Amino acid sequence: GSAAGAAMLFPAGRLASALSDDPPMPAPFSMPLSLPPDLMPVHRTSTTDFYEVEISETEHEILPGTRTRLLTYNGSFPGPTIRATRGRETVIRHTNRMGKPATVHLHGANVPASSDGHPLDPIAPGTSRVYRYPNHQAAATLWYHDHTHHAESEQVYRGLAGAYLLSDPVGRRLPLPSGRYDIPLLIRDAKFGGDGRLVYRYDDYLNRPTILVNGRPQPYLDVERRVYRLRLVNCSNLEPFRFTLTEGASFLQIASDGGFLPVPAMRREIDLWPSERAEVVVDFRSVRPGSQVVLENSIAADDLKRPIMQFRVGGGGPSGIVARASSAEGFLRGLGIRDWPIEAPPRRTPSKHRRFVLSADPNTHEFHINGRGFDPERVDATIEHGATEIWEIVNGDGALGIPHAMHLHLVQFQILDRNGHPEPSYDAYPKDTVRTNPGDVVRIQATFDGYTGRYPFHCHFMDHSSHSMMGQFEVVR
Ligand code: C2O
Ligand code: CU
Repeated sequence: GSAAGAAMLFPAGRLASALSDDPPMPAPFSMPLSLPPDLMPVHRTSTTDFYEVEISETEHEILPGTRTRLLTYNGSFPGPTIRATRGRETVIRHTNRMGKPATVHLHGANVPASSDGHPLDPIAPGTSRVYRYPNHQAAATLWYHDHTHHAESEQVYRGLAGAYLLSDPVGRRLPLPSGRYDIPLLIRDAKFGGDGRLVYRYDDYLNRPTILVNGRPQPYLDVERRVYRLRLVNCSNLEPFRFTLTEGASFLQIASDGGFLPVPAMRREIDLWPSERAEVVVDFRSVRPGSQVVLENSIAADDLKRPIMQFRVGGGGPSGIVARASSAEGFLRGLGIRDWPIEAPPRRTPSKHRRFVLSADPNTHEFHINGRGFDPERVDATIEHGATEIWEIVNGDGALGIPHAMHLHLVQFQILDRNGHPEPSYDAYPKDTVRTNPGDVVRIQATFDGYTGRYPFHCHFMDHSSHSMMGQFEVVR
């Protein structure tokens, strides 16, 4: 089980949680879910959509009656949803109106290094910068977020994150729920002070009691008795989630980090650690009209399950309760899908093996890869363009009980095995982040046939990446 390690992360934190300035928390499920607005292009050509975004400090009412200072994209928390189409280029001019540097990274995307938002390639305060996203890759739920050197953790925590939904003809032809039945859920940890301020403390994992969904604490959503597509995105700084549903409902998982799964899978629980995504289809016809289905975080023991949000199932739809599909094939058939069009990852022969050991230094509270902290002047792996490599990622923090989530920019990879056992296919591909429990040895395989240049790889527990658990690879010709 992956829960144990996470729960042991710096256990002293829990004791500090009895703070006097408790925030005015609304009752659970008293606020409606909101959806971030779609970002509208300022200009379109036959090949390209152009957008303008301002990064600035803003205030929002998150908890009733209080104001919370945030860092936002276009004033929206979370940032506006960007909708892109495979084959059409997205060009975004970001203007930094904060008093400090920003960089913008499109997580999970195959983009030129100049548009990757490298930590050492910032937008200085008061200036603008254009990012170009070619959208060559398959449909996927991506997300964009800040990546400023040593500051991404706090800046993402304070609001700099948004969804980027890439569609393609293969996905559009599938009769999946769409439009208002296709809902992005950006889920994250937070801690509020009594005056509504967002409290950021380094490595405060056990002391962030509030879960926000699209910027709201424990919201509810009125749903019809039909099928919905939910795009789960873990935008947390440090919180690992194990998503479950009450009322016996389950998920048909159709996509992972980098897009559709080769084989959709019925899931009772879905583990997503910071930055991971899953797209699921949920059938609300299989519960009684008027029931309430709660999305929970079940990573802790039963009595510590934490409700995340509530679905209030309306009275319409079919008269009886529709039997639950017992298999993914049955579920898909119910949607009218007989042939799932996604292929297994191509077989390739690796030409290189590397090993990266992740560790924490208990004295300095810095995090290391192969014994070293991030040095932007150092290239940790020089990769020949076109090469397929196997990286063995070792979580060397078994004794300290610290989980890590290794993320590579630029590529989607395949998780070959974990401690010698093959990774279940729904968790194996296409992935850009791999969970490692304390003591795990995980092997991933990636092909670097896209762009050349320097890209980071790092732990996506953002306090770890901001505190040095980052390296870089360079793809060369
Ligand atoms: Cu979301 Cu460097 O990553
Ligand atoms: Cu880590």
